[in-house]
Amino acid sequence: MAATASVGTEVSVVGKEDGEAAAEEQQVVNPWEVSAGKGGIDYDKLVDQFGCQRLDDALVARIARLTARPPHRFLRRGIFFAHRDLNEILDLYERGERFYLYTGRGPSSEALHLGHLIPFMFTKYLQDAFKVPLVIQLTDDEKFLWKNLTVEETKRLARENAKDIIACGFDVERTFIFSDFNYVGGAFYENMVKVARCVTYNKVVGIFGFTPEDHIGKISFPPVQAVPSFPSSFPHLFSGNDQLRCLIPCAIDQDPYFRMTRDVAPRIGYQKPSLIESRFFPALQGENTKMSASDPNSAIYVTDSAKEIKTKVNKYAFSGGQDSIELHRKLGANLDVDVPIKYLNFFLEDDNELEHIKKEYKEGRMLTGEVKQRLVAVLSELVARHQRARAQVTEEMVDAFMAVRPLPNMFG
Ligand code: TYM
Ligand code: TRP
Repeated sequence: MAATASVGTEVSVVGKEDGEAAAEEQQVVNPWEVSAGKGGIDYDKLVDQFGCQRLDDALVARIARLTARPPHRFLRRGIFFAHRDLNEILDLYERGERFYLYTGRGPSSEALHLGHLIPFMFTKYLQDAFKVPLVIQLTDDEKFLWKNLTVEETKRLARENAKDIIACGFDVERTFIFSDFNYVGGAFYENMVKVARCVTYNKVVGIFGFTPEDHIGKISFPPVQAVPSFPSSFPHLFSGNDQLRCLIPCAIDQDPYFRMTRDVAPRIGYQKPSLIESRFFPALQGENTKMSASDPNSAIYVTDSAKEIKTKVNKYAFSGGQDSIELHRKLGANLDVDVPIKYLNFFLEDDNELEHIKKEYKEGRMLTGEVKQRLVAVLSELVARHQRARAQVTEEMVDAFMAVRPLPNMFG
């Protein structure tokens, strides 16, 4: 993807071990910060740094074959691009065994943005394709610890966010949504302390970069996000099935938690969770950071109106088109930095139309305004559909998804 060359303005000079000084883009990817130089995030480098595996065409083809359905566009287009031991999950599925899915959300804002929808849309596809149970963790405790929010406020946001998640179409007979403040205890808590005893202070600093000024709430949080990876944390679902394997879909920023989890798992007699990891849906301003709720101008929310979407796309979406029509007709657009093309890559379902737009735009026959117009139509439709679905979600439905209950037909 992005070049490793020093094209950014903010470069840090990193001395290479062989003495060759190389200016490298500063690239930070962790659960709290995602930023890169102007060239955008170098995902190839991330895979090597984090030590995950690339999700190649052969694996995508295998998923399609095993599920007997076409691969999701996020797979066709390399948006979910990395994994850990996904092949093991597919092996057991092929033998007729089953697994469960785990994903989550930190309820820090009233509304989700389009980036948050990515893992949930994809998880919904996985649940339909594999017919497996799913647990969704709402880390209200995490957001209490990291943001300036009251306990009551994070709990309220968790419930509101649950409505957006339910609107993605999850099957209530196969899905358990829980908030940490309500659910942590019992077997879940026993697993937390088992994990905690295996992770030294040095280790957690190494993985997450905590500093001595960070309060101990932060330092003690990672086991909370780790243990939904273990089936014994959910006795009402998986009792007697302690070795059931787990697959976690998420964006790659969450990888540090699960590196820690996988490190600890065998030491406490559990299976390591597998992961399937996505790129970030970029900010409107461009590929050097992810869409983030902390910067409202970087984000399109699922609550935005068609008019707001149109204004944001036209005003803020970074364009790879040329400055004048004459120049654009002559040189064409630079698709590598063009945000509207990147967004269409995520959300325009039709492969042929996408290819056509890319070609016409790149060769200068299509103008930025026309591409943006198509994008506004695609996003407005998606967001309107989401809003209709969310309006159907009642308080009773939220209670139903969040009830601690067995799921009798979860593998059916
Ligand atoms: P949170 O709420 O920050 O993000 C929720 C999920 O959305 C992904 N994500 C994105 N994906 C693509 N493009 C973006 N711009 C973008 N922004 C966020 C995140 O990677 C995540 O998958 N600590 C977690 C909550 C959590 C969790 C989990 C997430 C608890 N358990 C298990 C994944 C898997 C959090 O605050 O996520
Ligand atoms: N990415 C989250 C955000 O938008 C923060 C976050 C994710 C986080 N995972 C975390 C914070 C784990 C603390 C611990 O703010």
